[in-house]
Amino acid sequence: MARWTPSSSDKEEQSVFKHKQNRQRIVQALEEKRASTSNAVFVEHLTVQYVTSKETVAAVNDISFTLPKKRTLGVVGETGAGKTTAMLSLMNMVPDPPGRIVSGDIQVGGLDMRSLSPSELQCVRGQEIAMIFQDPMTSLNPVVTVGEQIAESVLLHQDISKQAAMVQAKAMLAKVGIDPDRAGEYPHQFSGGMRQRVGIAIALACKPSVLIADEPTSALDVTIQAQILHLMRELKEENGASMILITHDLGVVAELCDDVAVMYAGHIVEYGMLEEVFNHTRHPYTEGLFNSLPNIRNRVALLQPIPGLMPDPSKLPRGCAFAPRCSYATDACREQAPDVHHFSDTHTVACTAYRDASFAIKRRDIE
Ligand SMILES: Nc1ncnc2c1ncn2[C@@H]1O[C@H](COP(=O)(O)OP(=O)(O)OP(=O)(O)O)[C@@H](O)[C@H]1O
Ligand code: SF4
Ligand SMILES: [Mg+2]
Repeated sequence: MARWTPSSSDKEEQSVFKHKQNRQRIVQALEEKRASTSNAVFVEHLTVQYVTSKETVAAVNDISFTLPKKRTLGVVGETGAGKTTAMLSLMNMVPDPPGRIVSGDIQVGGLDMRSLSPSELQCVRGQEIAMIFQDPMTSLNPVVTVGEQIAESVLLHQDISKQAAMVQAKAMLAKVGIDPDRAGEYPHQFSGGMRQRVGIAIALACKPSVLIADEPTSALDVTIQAQILHLMRELKEENGASMILITHDLGVVAELCDDVAVMYAGHIVEYGMLEEVFNHTRHPYTEGLFNSLPNIRNRVALLQPIPGLMPDPSKLPRGCAFAPRCSYATDACREQAPDVHHFSDTHTVACTAYRDASFAIKRRDIE
């Protein structure tokens, strides 16, 4: 008698069944963990490098932070500061090779992201933590309709039929201001702002507890920017989610964020509540960021950009990485890694100058 072998549709069913069983187990564990933790994200001593045959790029260097539930953290800093790499690490999505998480504890909703298996990660991404990528064209699949791309994300996380997932996908499109009848169109048929909305729809389709938005509006004109930011805030509040917003725009941070992390050369150099970082700025680099903003009251005043460039992260200087550009730098700064000073329970600054209790920076007021 011929031996029974599963047909390809049997195999598909078996793998769907296995995926569903796995998902139920993981979702249950996830809910238990989430209920027992007060923080949406906890990161301690995270270090990430990109290692190539030519060099080792020290992209993220020993950063620690905590994001309580329902709060929004703004991450600012110059290009190459390590913002995207740090946030990709939260999703355990640093491209490896050449990237590797060298050390650190990363917990999202109480789950240890570094110890999850690929199938566990598949369940956690999208449902617990999701990311809106900087360039929607590279994150969208050009040969799959936008409706199917949103539905695919729903199907991964819910036990529903393809038709029901498409109904949800269309509802999500409507929510982000796109006519649901366009669900059958491809990404290239949409404008940049609309593609960004599709990216947001995919990220929010499964109501993630933590949403990372990596410069979600930098490629958009100001009107669309305002609409997208408003939309993200609304959807975040509706879902009771926490958010991490990477941006170069301090105005956007002021409008949307509760807490701020200022990154420089892979380090968090200043961290605190919005009011602390904006109104009681302590780090010379944060001072430089504010001083380089245009002064709208006094338009003849010259811009004061931070002189020089961020050091090459494959050749970071020995002491404080900001020392070559810092007007307050001393020999101690050039020799030793900066001390960390706590100005409150929530406001931390990495700067050796505060060894002198009378030290103060000279930030101008924001107009
Ligand atoms: N795949 C990669 N291979 C090698 N180096 C990389 C890779 N991705 C990033 N880097 C390097 O890691 C450092 C941090 O990059 P990252 O993209 O995290 O910075 P960023 O703060 O997000 O910058 P931006 O504001 O330009 O988006 C940079 O020096 C960058 O060149
Ligand atoms: S440690 Fe020194 S060089 Fe670095 S920011 Fe502070 S004052 Fe400037
Ligand atoms: Mg980036």
